Amino acid sequence: MQTVLDVAAMQSRAYRHKRQGESIALVPTMGALHEAHLKLVRRARSEASVVIVSIFVNPTQFGPKEDLDRYPRTLEADLRKLEALDVDYVFIPSAKQMYPEGFQTEVSLKYLPKHLCGLSRPTHFAGVATVVLKLFNICMPDTAVFGLKDYQQYRIIQQMIADLNLPIRIVGVPTVREEDGLAESSRNTYLSPEERKKAVAIAQALQRIEDAIVKHGKRDAGELIELGIRVIEDAGGRVDYVAVADPDTLDDLQQVQKRTLLAAAAFFGNTRLIDNRMVDLSETVEEKDAENR
Ligand code: PAJ
Repeated sequence: MQTVLDVAAMQSRAYRHKRQGESIALVPTMGALHEAHLKLVRRARSEASVVIVSIFVNPTQFGPKEDLDRYPRTLEADLRKLEALDVDYVFIPSAKQMYPEGFQTEVSLKYLPKHLCGLSRPTHFAGVATVVLKLFNICMPDTAVFGLKDYQQYRIIQQMIADLNLPIRIVGVPTVREEDGLAESSRNTYLSPEERKKAVAIAQALQRIEDAIVKHGKRDAGELIELGIRVIEDAGGRVDYVAVADPDTLDDLQQVQKRTLLAAAAFFGNTRLIDNRMVDLSETVEEKDAENR
């Protein structure tokens, strides 16, 4: 495993591999690696001959009052975990390398960021799309692996790839959860033991909404959102949003449709957590495949 700190060095190594006809899979991360990140890396390993994992806490995707300075940094442990997974390159650029003086270009999408997390984090997704496009251009992946836990991020990158004709296949990995159902997140480390116990309510809220749809035939989005808010608030969480949305456009729905995205963000103490679930009411496997295409 090689650790590469320099943008030009990473790009020339990637270029060399491409010229030799090798395929590259990239897993972009901000480090503080947990089990879910490792699942993405294993998936990348099965997709390509060369695996690159980037570790970069990207300043441009954090708002002025967000947790950039205290975001967990555990580089040594991260490197040990990646070494064990047979990763070829860990790319760890500095902020200066990624954003040298005079940097001014931004990738922004018109509609997808105007929903869900984008409403309370208005500059976040332009920061994400910009850094991910840079990582794509530096690492030249054939395949990029993202987690579906950050579904809006996944959708935005998928749309950017389509809109800008990037020759990259995106792979979405299902959400990895802890034993009680809480989605794994680097930010879970901020939670006190008491907050950690309450935080599972965000997963439970979405599970309860799914049950109301699938087992009890509920279809009215307003009623389902109320239910989700109640579950989170009863546990002591502060709701940012609970949404019932179209998985492609992320537009709010009035009524549940065949494929429906359930998404939520909530604070437990000062920690903001997100989660989502996809509900698919298609009746047959063929129908589900067609819908998911
Ligand atoms: P980070 O939060 O480190 O996440 C890196 C990747 O791991 C993302 O694709 C994310 O969706 C995935 N991931 C995190 N928790 C997951 C879980 N419980 N289950 C499945 N996948 C999970 O997302 C980012 O970094 C950044 O925004 C980045 C894309 C690197 C751009 O800076």
